[in-house]
Amino acid sequence: MTHSRPAVTKAVLPAAGLGTRFLPATKATPKEMLPVVDKPAIQYVVEEAVATGLHDILMITGRNKRPLEDHFDHNHELESVLGRKGDSARLAQVREAGSLAAVHYVRQGDPNGLGHAVLCAAAHVGREPFAVLLGDDLIDPRDPLLGRMIDVQSERGGSVIALMEVDPGQIHLYGCASIAVTTDDDVVRVTGLVEKPEPADAPSNLAIIGRYVLDPAVFDVLRETGPGRGGEIQLTDALHRLAADETAGGPVHGVVFRGRRYDTGDRVDYLKAVVRIACERDDLGPDFRSWLRDYVFTEM
Ligand code: G1P
Repeated sequence: MTHSRPAVTKAVLPAAGLGTRFLPATKATPKEMLPVVDKPAIQYVVEEAVATGLHDILMITGRNKRPLEDHFDHNHELESVLGRKGDSARLAQVREAGSLAAVHYVRQGDPNGLGHAVLCAAAHVGREPFAVLLGDDLIDPRDPLLGRMIDVQSERGGSVIALMEVDPGQIHLYGCASIAVTTDDDVVRVTGLVEKPEPADAPSNLAIIGRYVLDPAVFDVLRETGPGRGGEIQLTDALHRLAADETAGGPVHGVVFRGRRYDTGDRVDYLKAVVRIACERDDLGPDFRSWLRDYVFTEM
């Protein structure tokens, strides 16, 4: 084990996607701003980064993403109205998003894929390992993942991705890893990656989920990565190259996540996240759970 590697302090949140799976809601509203109970989905992801000690957040945005900037800024007009009313609880909620972290923005001119979005972070990140968090994936804060990935990166170097076993019929929705086991039960060595394979061609049922801790060498590889699946620059393709070649900045390891994750970009998973989080909230849970129980037993 070595302790001389630079600590991970920066988180990159790609947020330039069009959100087509959620139309028409996302026609004029960024998908990252859809509420999960009463907070936009992206705020949970920023909170996860901050809770893991990453206080420097870079969002990769695009057209129609101004509401993200407004959300993580102060709103003096709203704050002064709430202050005059003496509504200190709401005032604290409104201020919270504006004071969570230092949030920076860079625009991805052409939405040219996740790899291209990550490459837009190169100047801000510099030559340190950094985290990437995809806004569609909500990880239950009771099932820590990113902190474990940072530890694995600091022990083993290179890059670390988050993997999760999925139903083989679902693997075509994800990047898919071929792996070798390591001495750690939750860590695998990634030997190859393929973006969204057909089930028959998938090397495993281990899917990439939206958390990465990357060696800055990924930027050099991304600059040379041509269009892949869907004609887009794929982060998966660059990581495949790193997995195959330690001299290019590998190795790549995977942390196998066995906790709770919601894909808020999928409508059914989004509804599950809303119901679950609402049920578990102290303020809303008791009333909501009792209604839900009645609904399930009497109307379904
Ligand atoms: C992206 C990645 C894919 C990964 C997925 C996780 O795909 O390209 O490898 O499995 O995120 O959510 P997207 O869902 O943006 O199409």
